[in-house]
Amino acid sequence: MAIRIGLYGCNMYRTRELLEGAQMLSADQFEVVACYDIDRAKADFAAERFGGQAYYAEEPFLKHDMDVVIISLPPYLHPEAFLHTAQAGKDVYLEKPVCVDLAGRELVLKAARDYPVKCYVGLSYRFIHPFLKVAEIVRRPDAGKLLGVHAHWLAPGPLLGPAPDPAKLGWRQRLEQSGGQLVFHCCHLLDWFRWIGGEMSSVTATSYTPPEAALPHEEVELNAGFTYEQGGLANFTLSQHSHQAYLYGSVETENYGMLWGWRPYSFVKVYRSRPRAADETFEWAGTDGVEDNTGAGRNALQMKDFIDAYLEGRPMPCNLQDGIASFDMACAIRESYREGRRVSVPPLVDLPA
Ligand SMILES: NC(=O)c1ccc[n+]([C@@H]2O[C@H](COP(=O)([O-])OP(=O)(O)OC[C@H]3O[C@@H](n4cnc5c(N)ncnc54)[C@H](O)[C@@H]3O)[C@@H](O)[C@H]2O)c1
Repeated sequence: MAIRIGLYGCNMYRTRELLEGAQMLSADQFEVVACYDIDRAKADFAAERFGGQAYYAEEPFLKHDMDVVIISLPPYLHPEAFLHTAQAGKDVYLEKPVCVDLAGRELVLKAARDYPVKCYVGLSYRFIHPFLKVAEIVRRPDAGKLLGVHAHWLAPGPLLGPAPDPAKLGWRQRLEQSGGQLVFHCCHLLDWFRWIGGEMSSVTATSYTPPEAALPHEEVELNAGFTYEQGGLANFTLSQHSHQAYLYGSVETENYGMLWGWRPYSFVKVYRSRPRAADETFEWAGTDGVEDNTGAGRNALQMKDFIDAYLEGRPMPCNLQDGIASFDMACAIRESYREGRRVSVPPLVDLPA
């Protein structure tokens, strides 16, 4: 059987990546049957490139006979698009973040309870090699308990100077449309913390945004220390004026120490017996194929994860609970640094399987 897919949002960035990823490992298992975008040219182009019928309005699009709708829009539009798609009885692949504010969170949860369709959420770091490898190693039987996770997210400089005209900003630069870097981008890493160590109980955070930052909502410097329910710690540093883009860190379990880095040099080094030389070293440097260091490989692995689970009738491996959990972690970080105290991270929401 091939999954009949509809595209809700036909941009040639994320939607194209997902479909090209699916073509790498799951080519015979899906078919694009409908393409909807408010920009007619984009809907037409997607239909020409991936197949299916082009639509320029939501209502006829959602009436099309199809199994799964991939929703990939400016994030503030995700909750309502999810509601309408679930109401139409279609299963969903929902891009992250699933919402950008509390009203959106409530809407998504109500829709999921009222119309319990399957929903896979596109949190992606679970499929990027260094992150995937660390997860595998943490789960080895002899690793012992997870003690600490450290992640540094270095990003190029923030926009400085006078505040730009909001009408000229894209959705990524508008807090009410993206949720800010912490919500729309760092959600991947927050999800990875949970994926390797389980649920969080609390967080203590600090934040600094220089007065000359043009986007005053952005956390330029952020430090957040989470405690896991099982007792370990996860420390997250976002540094957005570092003039480089690089993620690196370490992970400690009772019996292993690990160093990891992602792009341009991607590696995991595992230390057990010899503190100065790694016992195991994994490196990724290619630029295509499933073992790549860029993006294509992770998109292929992620789409395979979704398509295999869907076709085998298994629960969605990355679901709305995960999408809401990473949003809740970001909200808890903000609450902590604003109030200057440790705050609880809400428990995992209850949703139909
Ligand atoms: N998982 C990942 O690694 C990853 C990577 C990149 C982007 N994303 C996510 O994918 C989503 C899309 O990102 P993008 O960069 O491709 O965005 P984009 O702005 O390039 O594309 C959005 C598309 O939605 C269309 N659109 C806007 N409003 C619409 C509406 N009301 N109805 C129908 N179509 C509408 C636009 O015309 C455009 O084609 C975002 O939520 C982003 O967070 C995820």
